[in-house]
Amino acid sequence: MAVLDVVLYPGEPLLAKASPVQDFGPELAKLAADMIETMHAYEGVGLAAPQVGRSLRMFVLQEPEGEPMCLVNPEILAREGEESAEEGCLSLPRIYFPVARAVSLRVRAQDTAGVSREFEAQGFLARVIQHEFDHLEGRMILDHLDIITRQAVLQEWEVIRKQLAAGVAGKA
Ligand code: NI
Repeated sequence: MAVLDVVLYPGEPLLAKASPVQDFGPELAKLAADMIETMHAYEGVGLAAPQVGRSLRMFVLQEPEGEPMCLVNPEILAREGEESAEEGCLSLPRIYFPVARAVSLRVRAQDTAGVSREFEAQGFLARVIQHEFDHLEGRMILDHLDIITRQAVLQEWEVIRKQLAAGVAGKA
C-alpha cells in the first residue's frame, strides 16, 4: 500500500464530474487500499478518488470505531431531514465551516468486486457520504457557501495555500 498525494483546491480533476468505474480488477482494490491508507495518514474521515488525481466514481470513508468502507459508483436514492455541522476537506486543509446536509440517506453502491448493495445511512455516516459524493460531481464544500462568504473563505484559503507551498507549517 502507499500514501498518495492529495490534490489541493482547485487542482485537477477536483472540479470535474468523475467517470463511472467499469474495471473491477485488482487495480481497483489496490487503489481503494491506497486511498484508505492515505485517508488514515491525513487523519481524514473520507477521501474521494478525484482527490488523489483519479477521476473515478469511488470514495473511501472511516466511521469512528468502524471498519473503513469503499463505495464504488454510489447513488443517493433518497434523502431526509437537514442538519448543519462543521466540515473540512483534505483538499482544503485548515478550512472549516458548517454545511447543511440531509440527516438520513438511502444509498446504493458497489464494492471493489462490483457487488451492489443498498443500505440506510444516518448522521455522521450520511454526512460523510454526501461530502464525498459531492466530490464525484466536481463539487466542493465551497459550493455550499453564499457568494460573499465564499469570497472570504477563498481569500483565507489563498493565504493557507501559500503557507503550505512554502512548507511553513509542515504536513497539509
Ligand atoms: Ni472533501
